[in-house]
Amino acid sequence: MQNQKILILNFGGQYDQLIARRVRECNVYCEVKPYTMTLQEIKDFNPIGIIFTGGPDSVYKENSYHPAEGIFELNIPILGICYSCQLLAHHLGGKVVAAGEDNAREYGKTITFYDNTCLLFEDLPEEGVSWMSHGDYMEKVPKGFKLTAHSEKCPNVAICDEDRMFYGVQFHPEVNHTANGKKMIRNFLYKVCNAVGDWTMEGYMHRCVEEIRQKVGTGQVLLALSGGVDSSVCAALFAEAIGKQLTCVFVDHGLLRKKEGDEVEAAFRRWDIHLIRVDAKERFLNRLAGVTEPEQKRKIIGEEFIRVFEEEGKKIGQTDFLAQGTIYPDVIESGKENAETIKSHHNVGGLPDFVDFKEIIEPLRLLFKDEVRELGKQLKLPKYMVMRQPFPGPGLAIRIIGEVTEEKLEILREADAIFRDEIEKADLENSMNQYFAALTNMKTVGVMGDGRTYDWAIALRSVTTEDFMTADWTRIPYEVLDRVSSRIVNEVPHVNRVLYDITSKPPSTVEFE
Ligand code: XMP
Repeated sequence: MQNQKILILNFGGQYDQLIARRVRECNVYCEVKPYTMTLQEIKDFNPIGIIFTGGPDSVYKENSYHPAEGIFELNIPILGICYSCQLLAHHLGGKVVAAGEDNAREYGKTITFYDNTCLLFEDLPEEGVSWMSHGDYMEKVPKGFKLTAHSEKCPNVAICDEDRMFYGVQFHPEVNHTANGKKMIRNFLYKVCNAVGDWTMEGYMHRCVEEIRQKVGTGQVLLALSGGVDSSVCAALFAEAIGKQLTCVFVDHGLLRKKEGDEVEAAFRRWDIHLIRVDAKERFLNRLAGVTEPEQKRKIIGEEFIRVFEEEGKKIGQTDFLAQGTIYPDVIESGKENAETIKSHHNVGGLPDFVDFKEIIEPLRLLFKDEVRELGKQLKLPKYMVMRQPFPGPGLAIRIIGEVTEEKLEILREADAIFRDEIEKADLENSMNQYFAALTNMKTVGVMGDGRTYDWAIALRSVTTEDFMTADWTRIPYEVLDRVSSRIVNEVPHVNRVLYDITSKPPSTVEFE
């Protein structure tokens, strides 16, 4: 059975993914498509409602973006946001002009007054902050529409034509700055589009398992398991669906955190699958010997990973399908809507043209990260695995500044495990997005008992961020830092100093290398 679907047509706005997430959070399935979608494609998609995103342009400009002709005659509810509110006005007989400084140009948080008789604003407060970002103004509202919100500067903040089920808002209900924005989206979905809320991860899991079984038949599937959230959930889904027909290759490059390799292996033992854990520790360390330059380390690790995977693939022989954990943000960002156009190495850094497979299957390609985590929980993967913070492919090698050796890896693993343990004990792990220890390339003088020491300095790093493009250092309480520091110097041999990194990104990066 198919889910009800909302279509999000992207007119070049920045918040397309955010709108999609809000809709999914309301248990309604949706997809983001470019505004160039044809009328026939829209009909084939068969949405219960369409949301037009914002866009950077002015609707009256020559090359601005417009939807397929005939879209307003489909008898499907439409919600136009920001640029697209003006798009509704422009196409349906209103008039949009450039706003002047004092009549209607608005940026940022703006007190807005809502007409609660409009379905979009039903059961909401009459007044609240909304997030505006528009330089144009609906001078004339189209015939058949009524005004449903205003602000101090702008009389025309929202419009609707309830008979034709068209709604427009100049502000952005999808961003958190708009008070009750999510409720407005929910109202559109449930009160205007008559959504039933049939999008749940449990339902998705059952359907996905069924689809995988049908597609794979008696074939064989190969999957590169890294232990990260996406590849783990992908593996669990295939394991559930086809058991023994799945082969997971887990390349243990020896640059993992304490116990991590064993944890990954243990988590997948409950399924009857072929799990190949390749112990390639020595091989990676040999190749990294004497290498200090960060980018060179990354390159060596990436290359070596592919070599090991290739060798294992050859041993296995003919495989029909390659499974990958590509997720929806990767798909939207790369603008690739079509599974066939995504090459095998799109997601895993150079994987593997050599394996003789018929097709790539990417069952997570329509899911957001939080949905992937939810699916992992449904599949009964352990919580620590599903909620795990990001861990870079090159692993601890880029957290050891300078040359990587077994001795340094051992020190770092212990220090990092203590840091993570204390953060969990203090119940702080959900208040930070990534936290870890790094081994500086610096030895310093210390004193222990009556003796002088000359040992390594460990650096702790923790960041709070939404997208990892920018990040703030986390204000960890001093008493927690104190416990971490004293445990590390007491429990980890050859460490006599602990530093806490208090730089944000930019100018720093999250990782040290
Ligand atoms: P930076 O250090 O660039 O990190 O601020 C941002 C995010 O990306 C992760 N990261 C990597 N992930 N391979 C990966 O798979 C890499 O080479 C790599 N470098 C950084 C980092 O852990 C953080 O989440």
